[in-house]
Amino acid sequence: MHRSFREILNILDDKGSLVRIKKEVDPKYEMGAVMKQLEKEGKAFLFENVKGSKYPAVGGLFTSMDRYGLIFNEDASEEFTYDQAGQKVLEGVADPIASVVKDNGPVMEEILRDDKIDLLSMPVPTFFELDTGPFITAAVGIFRKPDGNINVGFYRCLIENKNHILINASGLSDLRKSYNWHREEGKEMNVVMVLGAPPALLMAAASKSPDHVSELDVAGGMIGKGVKVVLGPDSGLPIPIDAEMAFETKVDLNNMVENTLGEFGAQYGTEHAPMCEVTSILKRKDSMFYTLMAGRAKEHNNLGYLTVYGMSTMLKNRIKDTFPCVSNVEIHFDTKIGPLMHVVIAINKSSDSQPADIIKETFEINMGSFNLAWMAKRVIVVDDDVDPSNMDDVEWATWTRMGRAEKVHLFSNFVTWEIDRAALPDKTSLRVGIDATKDMDYVEDLIRPIVPGIDNIKLEDYLD
Ligand SMILES: Cc1cc2nc3c(=O)[nH]c(=O)nc-3n(C[C@H](O)[C@H](O)[C@H](O)COP(=O)(O)O)c2cc1C
Repeated sequence: MHRSFREILNILDDKGSLVRIKKEVDPKYEMGAVMKQLEKEGKAFLFENVKGSKYPAVGGLFTSMDRYGLIFNEDASEEFTYDQAGQKVLEGVADPIASVVKDNGPVMEEILRDDKIDLLSMPVPTFFELDTGPFITAAVGIFRKPDGNINVGFYRCLIENKNHILINASGLSDLRKSYNWHREEGKEMNVVMVLGAPPALLMAAASKSPDHVSELDVAGGMIGKGVKVVLGPDSGLPIPIDAEMAFETKVDLNNMVENTLGEFGAQYGTEHAPMCEVTSILKRKDSMFYTLMAGRAKEHNNLGYLTVYGMSTMLKNRIKDTFPCVSNVEIHFDTKIGPLMHVVIAINKSSDSQPADIIKETFEINMGSFNLAWMAKRVIVVDDDVDPSNMDDVEWATWTRMGRAEKVHLFSNFVTWEIDRAALPDKTSLRVGIDATKDMDYVEDLIRPIVPGIDNIKLEDYLD
């Protein structure tokens, strides 16, 4: 059981959770400002009258995790947890199903070429005051990797002019690897950017699947059948047949251009991305432009949590397997405290040197092409009477169990992910280890006051 992008919009409309905005809005700042206000209300939106554009703009479909329930729950209930969403993607990774190629589909209803291509007529918001220009934020990019596999991911795109965009690839992305390979080999590269992709594919695109598994097939596994696609007339790349629009592009890897957007970690990010020529636009006759609020925004961040779900699950197991004294681990990836991970490890401590060793070894865990320090800002070690998933509890332990300066470990030699915008020119940035465990001398003293039997009390037994 699964629902399409349009089916979900219709359900939200029926439930009164879709707001139609008829008043003209300026895509420069005004549209983003309205989107941000609607996010607080949890409303999806349809801008019917965006200045300078004949296309409606939709978004705000997945501003909470429970909304993913609309994709998979038979009764369209909005009940879904982060774990369910992450597990759903992992099921797709474990049992991928290949896409099915069709000759035609709604996304082929109109094909625009040459002078008909006018990206400046699209309702693309400019979000923040220092952004370089209007950004497409909700498109998934589809391309062929050097190994021949199809890759799908979210990549933000700056509109450069009526037929050129910049497609940004972070240091974590397979797109960056593919850019590098194609440049080094002098090979041509195409990327197709798709708006209004099937919702299961949005989830799969946000997540990181193993190199040999295509996110397109992961989405197939998630919905129990292959995603139906047509092949782009210029690129030969698969495009979901019921997408709203698709931009086929030819990438010029020798023309890298600087651009800046307010990012999910609530900082500006300046990147260099290749100039991509849009050679065709495939679209439905009544196509809608899908947009996601940029910056620290709920719909974006919910998808972002899926990027690290598989990695976090693997990492928790690795830490438990590596250190037998570990009773529990939690990986916090929450833009409230920045764009990088914070790892909390609860241990049954047997020596005062143990937390320092664990902190150092954890930062050095090999994650494939990088070590954990690249994307983890802080490692905190707590005693096993502290709940690592509860940051209030962790804060309490930090400020009640640290009596010596040696329990704070500072590292400035680790190379960091570029999303850490405070990085120094040599690409290193501060990493912090906190030993918030009781010193062995105080094990008998620093005991938490607990009311015996509190967990067995049922209030209803005491109330009339
Ligand atoms: C809304 C949204 C926007 C994103 N923008 C970018 C981006 O501009 N560049 C990038 O490399 N990753 C971006 N990401 C993260 C990637 O989509 C994500 O890491 C994905 O797993 C990358 O796929 P890949 O490794 O297969 O290339 C974004 C994620 C979301 C949810």
